[in-house]
Amino acid sequence: MQEYYRQIENHNFILKNYINDKTPHNIKVVLKISLTLIFFSEKPNFAIVNEAVEFSKKLKKHSLVNAVLRGVLRNKKDIQINKRNIPNNFVKICDDVFSNEKICSYICDSFFHKPQNYQISIEDKKNTIYEKRVAYLEKELEPNSFIQDIGNFEIINSIKEIYQDKNIIDICAAPGGKSILLHSYGFKVEAIDKSQRQIDKFLQNIKRMNLNIKISKKDFLKSKFPIYYNSILLDAPCSALGTFRRNPDVISKINEKNLKFNQNTQIKMIEKSLSLLNKNGILVYIVCSFHHFETMGVIDKVLQKHKTITIEKIQSDKMIKKDNGYFINPYSFKDIGGSDIFFVTALKKN
Ligand SMILES: C[S@@+](CC[C@H](N)C(=O)[O-])C[C@H]1O[C@@H](n2cnc3c(N)ncnc32)[C@H](O)[C@@H]1O
Repeated sequence: MQEYYRQIENHNFILKNYINDKTPHNIKVVLKISLTLIFFSEKPNFAIVNEAVEFSKKLKKHSLVNAVLRGVLRNKKDIQINKRNIPNNFVKICDDVFSNEKICSYICDSFFHKPQNYQISIEDKKNTIYEKRVAYLEKELEPNSFIQDIGNFEIINSIKEIYQDKNIIDICAAPGGKSILLHSYGFKVEAIDKSQRQIDKFLQNIKRMNLNIKISKKDFLKSKFPIYYNSILLDAPCSALGTFRRNPDVISKINEKNLKFNQNTQIKMIEKSLSLLNKNGILVYIVCSFHHFETMGVIDKVLQKHKTITIEKIQSDKMIKKDNGYFINPYSFKDIGGSDIFFVTALKKN
């Protein structure tokens, strides 16, 4: 399925020679799945065509499917499958944030490769590839390590000094990557999350590493909190656009309706976090997205309403500062495998 989504524009391009706009959506999907199998699987071509034709009988379009796939197979040698066609909206979102041809072209190219997997250690180690904590994930996970993207690590590594108080609430904490890392830097973490499925993964992680971090099942927006905080981490739910290398389907799901829904939730979560923050307290807002709506757009709206909030400086040569926040720059990790893209901003309540 990952390859289906990676190749979606390439396959649209190939199919333009065989079908037109009137071809039903379901049939286009069947054809694109078949092309993915023809070019990226070991399955025999006759079996791929047979299955697609059988399936399309229900939709009474089997003759068309048969003709298109046989046409593709006849021309298979001349079809270039290593093209780099990428959905236009993705290129635009990328340009808007990074405005640099070298970086954008690196990011777009990375859409076509499975990403490097990293493991993060909870103690300083030798033989790491970055900051004494990050190693490649080869076959086995090393003891006292957990799986996390290097960009995720970079965020916590760079914001940990901004907090003055090491008692922190992590509001969207599961499966626990950021809580575990903060704990390893000496923070006392109160973790909450609303999803039991995600909490179960969190519990598995801390059990495996024998860590003492408590997590409670709570919907942050519906729960009451008896105390105020100096340090809050909000890793808000989002489109996950920044994880497009491992989840290439996220690009196809980007649309204004979903983004506005996410933005609304993100703003509500920031508003509630600010209401729980003491004077001089710090709220760090993170999303694994680089769409304007979920990043700078969210912070713009919050700053317009809350005039006493200021943005703290974050020190990292792996991030790019833009307007009211910072984006992880995957190009800066290119020699060790690249990274997902995150947005982070640290808000201070004055
Ligand atoms: C981006 S993930 C968090 C990843 C986590 N911080 C980590 O580093 O491993 C977002 C999380 O927010 C949780 N979430 C979404 N809405 C929530 C709410 N209203 N209250 C609490 N948690 C929520 C989801 O269940 C999900 O686990």
